[in-house]
Amino acid sequence: MSASDNAAAKLHPETRLVHAGTMRSQFGETSEALFLTQGHVYDSAEQCEARFLNKDPGFQYARFSNPTVSMLEGRMAAFESAEACRATATGMAAVTAAVMAPLRAGDHVVAARALFGSCRYIVEDHLPRYGVESTLVDGTDIEAWRKAVRPNTKVFFLETPSNPTLEVIDIEAVAKIAKAAGARLVVDNVFATPLFQRPLELGADLVVYSATKHIDGQGRCLGGLVVGSKELIEGDIQTFLRQTGPAISPFNAWVMLKALETLPLRIAKQAENATKVADWLAAHAKPSKVIFCGHKSHPQAEIIARQMSGPSTLIAFEVPGGKDAAYRLLNACRLIRISNNLGDAKSLIVHPATTTHQRFTPEVRADMGVTDGMIRLSIGLEHAEDLIADLEQALARV
Ligand SMILES: Cc1ncc(COP(=O)(O)O)c(C=O)c1O
Repeated sequence: MSASDNAAAKLHPETRLVHAGTMRSQFGETSEALFLTQGHVYDSAEQCEARFLNKDPGFQYARFSNPTVSMLEGRMAAFESAEACRATATGMAAVTAAVMAPLRAGDHVVAARALFGSCRYIVEDHLPRYGVESTLVDGTDIEAWRKAVRPNTKVFFLETPSNPTLEVIDIEAVAKIAKAAGARLVVDNVFATPLFQRPLELGADLVVYSATKHIDGQGRCLGGLVVGSKELIEGDIQTFLRQTGPAISPFNAWVMLKALETLPLRIAKQAENATKVADWLAAHAKPSKVIFCGHKSHPQAEIIARQMSGPSTLIAFEVPGGKDAAYRLLNACRLIRISNNLGDAKSLIVHPATTTHQRFTPEVRADMGVTDGMIRLSIGLEHAEDLIADLEQALARV
């Protein structure tokens, strides 16, 4: 079954994640093969020429494409019911390509202010160096997106739920404004996971992932994915990736490809665990605030009910006493380990103000809602009771 199979579209998502994109070699292997090769040989000089002219189907060079990488791309495209996908070396390479590929000096970008640190760096610091202006808006304020549009606006970029504040943006409403403005809407879907949110169906033009997170889900490899229409993916995205070169290693692509097969099971269990932990935290006296996409108390609960089919695996909470109290809690955790990664089978905890969001001034952090007492918790596959017991003894130190 390949991504282009019409039959694939009719299958349930779980089935597509196991079978779609598979290309068997002449050996008929059960599990997808790892093609650890930089390049390919041709039967003749004529065939080589035809391959370079895109007249002969097949592979040329691993910076452009590779059979294992193509299987990952085909599987992900089929899962998202999208026409095409490209895999990249990291999530940031996917974000950079999706945002920068169509831009020229003199263009303008509108982005939500609550972005992962490196994503905000691209918009706020990197693009202006090349003559591209950017406006950061409160992503939850739909009027702010409309007001930010200029005649030269080419790209809208948002992340929902956001890292680490779990702020949720109405994708459909922003997509309508982007469309009217003739701008491309890029959605970073890392926190929602492809299982719980389908931005393309809500009007986004491109969806990007750090596959490093839930897709690998076991802390092994870095990777990124850009998903969307054939026109965009095989247009400026492909050109940007091919010429600038952030190709994913075939080995990493193979790990991601196999990891997709178990993604629904892992995410369902992690989300179930996250719900138990978030409910417990919300009932505990110590945290001054608990933000979780599965809670009715979430500020954008109404949008979540419309656009997400699950709560994500992340929890943000605040402890009174700022950084000192947060550090006491982190240092007291035994099972839950301190790490800036997320989406892993192992539960991980981090203090965003001094790590992922450290480079921002206190004022910018405050504007983004990242307080000194805020803690981000990524829930894994352990038994929920063990996680709660770990947090209980750690909260006692706060
Ligand atoms: C929301 C979000 N987008 C993008 C990235 C970048 O991904 P990578 O680290 O794979 O480059 C991250 C990484 O933490 C992230 O959390």
